[in-house]
Amino acid sequence: MPDAIATKIISDHHHDLIIHRPASGLSLQGQIEVPGDKSISHRALMLGALAQGETSIQGLLLGEDPRSTAECFRAIGSEISELNTELVKVKGIGLGNLREPADVLNAGNSGTTLRLMLGILASQPERFFTITGDKSLCSRPMSRVVEPLQQMGAQIWGRQGGSRAPLAIQGQTLRPIHYHSPIASAQVKSCVLLAGLMAEGQTTVTEPTLSRDHSERMLEAFGAELSIDPETHSVTITGPARLQGQTVIVPGDISSAAFWLVAGAIVPGSDLRIGNVGVNPTRTGILEALSLMGADIVLENERLVAGEPVADLRVRHSPLKACKIEGDLIPRLIDEIPILAVASVFAEGVTVIRDAADLRVKESDRIAVMATQLNCMGARVTELPDGLEITGGTPLCGTEVDSHNDHRVAMSLAIAALNASGVTTLHQAEAANISYPNFNTTLQQMVVF
Ligand code: S3P
Repeated sequence: MPDAIATKIISDHHHDLIIHRPASGLSLQGQIEVPGDKSISHRALMLGALAQGETSIQGLLLGEDPRSTAECFRAIGSEISELNTELVKVKGIGLGNLREPADVLNAGNSGTTLRLMLGILASQPERFFTITGDKSLCSRPMSRVVEPLQQMGAQIWGRQGGSRAPLAIQGQTLRPIHYHSPIASAQVKSCVLLAGLMAEGQTTVTEPTLSRDHSERMLEAFGAELSIDPETHSVTITGPARLQGQTVIVPGDISSAAFWLVAGAIVPGSDLRIGNVGVNPTRTGILEALSLMGADIVLENERLVAGEPVADLRVRHSPLKACKIEGDLIPRLIDEIPILAVASVFAEGVTVIRDAADLRVKESDRIAVMATQLNCMGARVTELPDGLEITGGTPLCGTEVDSHNDHRVAMSLAIAALNASGVTTLHQAEAANISYPNFNTTLQQMVVF
């Protein structure tokens, strides 16, 4: 099968994806669905555990990150049925009833698990917790959540003055605050709101621009008293709250759909339909950026499912042009910048991405890693302190590239390889399992020679 795309597993620990683009080219065709939204999956497990009664979750993402959340909540007393995409049942333990675990909690690679859980753990009086993560997570900054929690009276210790995991938390009765977050971060906002569930009075978070609002939507659905001021990007929660178990239907993750949107746009002859994708306006920056670049993407069958907007997306190949991606758009496409960098390599002109310094402290330094890996393939990418400058139009050549164990980098490089001549060997391709199990299988299914 010399011209096929094949996954070659070299050993148990080193999974390589080998992509061989035939000289005669390939295209992507077909209809697929992407796995459940990662942000919504985490929140459904967490609120389900904190609620009274039972929560049913349909369409949960089975990636490693939500598995980390489920394991942590099992360790603090929540009964969660075996994880599957059809139906997961979470038996709520109620706010304030979390069990002190006998061992260290482990958030794995997941920043959302660690940062959101800190707000929950810090507000459990008379209980002590320790939480850690993998090498990447232990190197990521936690002061952005530790500081507002300390203002609420939390007691948290860790390396580098409490700013790096492993962290130790002595639960306390917290007091409400008005926190003006210096960054637009849904993890910061959600952490403080979750801490505010148990604090008596009004806890407010104001952010510079609106970050993803899945926590607000789900907290309201579970019965929390929330007020939102869209003018000032502020959200207020009144505690102590009482959450009631719900049915959550998780839509497909637009951050996972983004790989196919870009693949469909850049690979000549492609025509793809991606069904059941979450199109919450706080997440659709990718659609706006691709549309600025001239991509042919159509939203079909727009609808509301369990409080979240959903649509089917159709993408067809079309020539792309460079654009500027900056400012308020950044929080709405922050996770899609690695794959937007790939789109820019195939766009006519110079694409500039700015105001995205936070990319340097994601699962990897995504600015440095995307620049070096794409340049290995022959692209012209320059690092900026807070983004990337990409000169499009140079053809890519297959070579050896590495995901640096970052799921979004792995999938972005696999898509770049579809348009690179010859053979690309992607090291640490298994990182994709963090947010997209079966990514490689889906890729193989869609390729038409
Ligand atoms: C997430 C928020 C974002 C995003 C991350 C998931 C969430 O992080 O990058 O993948 O589920 O709240 P920040 O809040 O740090 O921007």
